[in-house]
Amino acid sequence: MANTILVGAQWGDEGKGKIIDVLTAKVDIVVRSQGGNNAGHTVIHRGTKYILHLIPSGILRRGKVCVIGNGVVVDPLALVTEIEGLRKLGIVIGKNLLLSDCAHLVLPYHRALDEQRELRKGHVRIGTTKRGIGPAYGDKAARTGLRVSDLMQPILFSKKLQAKVRENNSILQALGAKPINYREVNEQYLAAGKKLRPFVANTVVYLHRALQRGKEVLFEGAQGTFLDIDHGTYPYVTSSNTTAGGACTGSGVPPHRMDRVLGVMKAYTTRVGEGALPTEDAALANLLHKMGREFGATTGRPRRCGWFDAVATHYATMLNGIDELAITNLDGLDGVDRIRICVAYRLNGKRLDVPPCDATQLANCEPVYEELPGWKQSTHAAKKLSQLPSQARKYVHRISELTGAELSMVSVGPARGQTLFV
Ligand code: IMP
Repeated sequence: MANTILVGAQWGDEGKGKIIDVLTAKVDIVVRSQGGNNAGHTVIHRGTKYILHLIPSGILRRGKVCVIGNGVVVDPLALVTEIEGLRKLGIVIGKNLLLSDCAHLVLPYHRALDEQRELRKGHVRIGTTKRGIGPAYGDKAARTGLRVSDLMQPILFSKKLQAKVRENNSILQALGAKPINYREVNEQYLAAGKKLRPFVANTVVYLHRALQRGKEVLFEGAQGTFLDIDHGTYPYVTSSNTTAGGACTGSGVPPHRMDRVLGVMKAYTTRVGEGALPTEDAALANLLHKMGREFGATTGRPRRCGWFDAVATHYATMLNGIDELAITNLDGLDGVDRIRICVAYRLNGKRLDVPPCDATQLANCEPVYEELPGWKQSTHAAKKLSQLPSQARKYVHRISELTGAELSMVSVGPARGQTLFV
């Protein structure tokens, strides 16, 4: 299948977990290169629902190696819990999981700071997952972070942790928050470090050697294009590069080894957390929530919902160099009478074809819609694109045309079999 970067082309939660799971069958190695346990990839396999936060979903298939790359921020306690939870469900985890020694750690003071910063922002809060992601990447950029390699050296780790806890406790106390107990944290994290030791490796070397031997790699993106720290709807973004370039920096695999970029898009738009969502539509959200859909996999929050935004996805296609397109959750629109697609924005009387950089301007953009008739019947049982109702086929082709990427997959349900290849 060649080396593929898979990215979310909207605001995250595009249904990447399922597409990754389907593609994993064709590769040898699956790599996570950014984000942390803010991500939540849902995969339904043989009737069991798995929600993965840090471990690539390739872990559910035998014979695949999963790599947590240097660009990921890892909460060791969360990773241990995830490993143990998967093992309880019968998933074998051993030599099939590698953790980069260069990955940065998420520590309790990151979570406490995340919470405090959000509290203090009041109504202009970001709506983070409160997993400490922003503060952990902040420490990395400030060159004061602790890494997996530190955790593998207990004496050094304890010394560095003590200094960091002292520094962060003075900040937390100034904010009126509870200080962190160094001894407790040190003990818990060293214990987690012991459990993680067998997985720790120089994953850059591992990946380069594997590529030399002709192994094929899938780089699974977390979050989505408009949550990218550089290209997203700043400041309402996450703290990593969720766009295609992040796969290179976050894994140590150079750009010329990447063969294609696959963009995953929902047949409509969703977003969790704050920030502009130009096509947001309360009636569509209500309909999807009533169907039991669109609740966050990590926090359980109801997602905000809107019509498909082709201005955003066209921009995402350019930014990521998306060659191929997977459209997910088409069945979410099965009961909708008239379906809208946003083809441009209007801002202060001007028509825009690309999203503005400024968050306030984006919030003031009004969508310009075109309307298509719905198909008003279930798509769940379709096994081929030709078995979809003709209006549904027209809809996915129109999305592909507006987005500017070739349609390669359509998903009509959570199961592996409910994936139509074009
Ligand atoms: P953080 O990544 O927890 O700092 O949250 C920053 C923003 O990104 C918030 O709006 C979150 O809701 C959003 N976010 C983070 N991870 C995900 C994800 O996996 N899916 C969707 N949104 C996410």
